[in-house]
Amino acid sequence: MFNIIIKDTYEEVSLEAFKALKKVISDKEKPVLGLATGSSPIGLYKNMQEDYKKGYSYKNCITFNLDEYIGLDKEHDQTYWTFMHKNLFDNLDIPEENIHIPSAVGKDLQELCSDYDKALNEYVIDIQVLGIGGNGHIGFNEPGTSFDTKTNIVELQERTRLDNARFFNSLDEVPTKAITMGISSIMQAKNILVIATGLNKADAVYGMIKGEISVDCPASVLQNHPSVTVVLDKDAASKL
Ligand code: GLP
Repeated sequence: MFNIIIKDTYEEVSLEAFKALKKVISDKEKPVLGLATGSSPIGLYKNMQEDYKKGYSYKNCITFNLDEYIGLDKEHDQTYWTFMHKNLFDNLDIPEENIHIPSAVGKDLQELCSDYDKALNEYVIDIQVLGIGGNGHIGFNEPGTSFDTKTNIVELQERTRLDNARFFNSLDEVPTKAITMGISSIMQAKNILVIATGLNKADAVYGMIKGEISVDCPASVLQNHPSVTVVLDKDAASKL
């Protein structure tokens, strides 16, 4: 079920997203957060950092990130590990051992996927933050992905690589593969918080909320989830 909130500016969208997250976590002793990368949640993360500066402690939080590129060293400036540390973890008090980001280096890739699932299986995510890809992907689960997937290795579609090329020097540098939490794990979160802004998200947002539930638009699976808050600006909501 969707609770849809539409605001004028990115700042207002971010504040609403923060309020929704805080409502879920504030009465929990050990909140489990599912976190996302991309431009959409940066404002939410700024609000969390402000909240910490004002005295709220995040030290009991346990976090799971959705995804990571394959083929970049962990400390490359475009890994999601770097993104999360720069945009959130470096300025909060969450202990490093409570932070889970799928690792894309080291062992055999299938082993990395099952390690991540093992860690995930020990917890229930209280709130999963999601952005949405222009093609309707969630995490890096591209159109065509079965709704039953657990953590898996994906081949990134051209649209996704083009959308994310803005963060790299050239399209050639954008990885072609990623590791991502699966759709079935995302659906197990107790609450989901989707943030989307801008006209380039309008079709995907329509597909998520009003389209047919189909693997062609992975976000449409959220129509089957009991508690989804969607925070949008007017452009992202323009096709609803
Ligand atoms: C990437 C991430 C997704 C994210 C999407 C949208 O592909 N893997 O998790 O939701 O981008 O990003 P943005 O918020 O920058 O539009």
